Amino acid sequence: MASTEPSPRIAVVGSYNVGLTMVVPRFPTPGETVLGDSFAEGPGGKGSNQAIGVARLGGEATFVGQVGDDSYADDAFALWDREGVDATHVTRNPETHTGVGFVIVSEDGENEITVAPGANDALDAAAIDAASSEFAGVDALLCQLEVGDEPIEAAVRTASAAGADVVLNPAPARELPAAVLERVDYLTPNQNEARLMLGLDPDADRDDESVAADLRALGVDTVVMTRGAAGALVVTDGGIEAVDSFDVDVVDTTGAGDSFNAALAVALSEGLPIGRATRFACAAGALATTAAEVIPGLPDRETVAALVGE
Ligand code: RIB
Repeated sequence: MASTEPSPRIAVVGSYNVGLTMVVPRFPTPGETVLGDSFAEGPGGKGSNQAIGVARLGGEATFVGQVGDDSYADDAFALWDREGVDATHVTRNPETHTGVGFVIVSEDGENEITVAPGANDALDAAAIDAASSEFAGVDALLCQLEVGDEPIEAAVRTASAAGADVVLNPAPARELPAAVLERVDYLTPNQNEARLMLGLDPDADRDDESVAADLRALGVDTVVMTRGAAGALVVTDGGIEAVDSFDVDVVDTTGAGDSFNAALAVALSEGLPIGRATRFACAAGALATTAAEVIPGLPDRETVAALVGE
């Protein structure tokens, strides 16, 4: 994909978490202790990851979020500075801690994550209002669900009124108010999240096409359902398109969804049709799995373009 001028402008509203990552031979069962092979501490949080993903792919990323007033927050601001992410609208909250994620990665690269949200939970509509000037000129708003409904609703209202594309990555999944769903242009659940958003069991035996159709009936315009190694399913008014993934050597799947969503927002903002934008996103998601931890795995523009073959 040829890069265009000017760079797409994307606002990301969401979380920052410090990631405490351990690689284990297998996931523990309830009540069991499993000894891990390695441990690392590094930056994470779906919002921050996606903002950094956008910047690495050539977008102008503004991140709106909240951290504690602690050394983890100092590390976060230094990271955003290095990565070229505008963090003017990230606030420090002295009453709670910066978000923390415990990430367990199995030897075949699958992950399980628990998060203590801390300051992410305190992000409110006032914080979005304070950043509302940012939404006026952006091409897209990108949100996830590691923050509450209140800031998400305020952000999608403001961005959609300003004419930006609204991309919502419902991770972790929960059912959302109609006021949010009706303003979502692109909803990007994985297969489990798609079912959870409908109040179903995450493993419910339903075909992905009908699950996506039910999500569209809630008011979202387009569903782009990620299906791991099977790629993605794009369901629009015009029909259904299956997009293949890319064959890579998987080390750690943590952050694959973040890379996918960042790339989708960039590609859509550059005017690519949804099928090609999803293929670009599948390449970015696949590349993110080839390195341990999230930030080292987020690809740059040239690497994604080379895999896509454009
Ligand atoms: O999507 C991966 C991210 O989810 C990790 O960085 C972890 O912090 C959790 O927020």
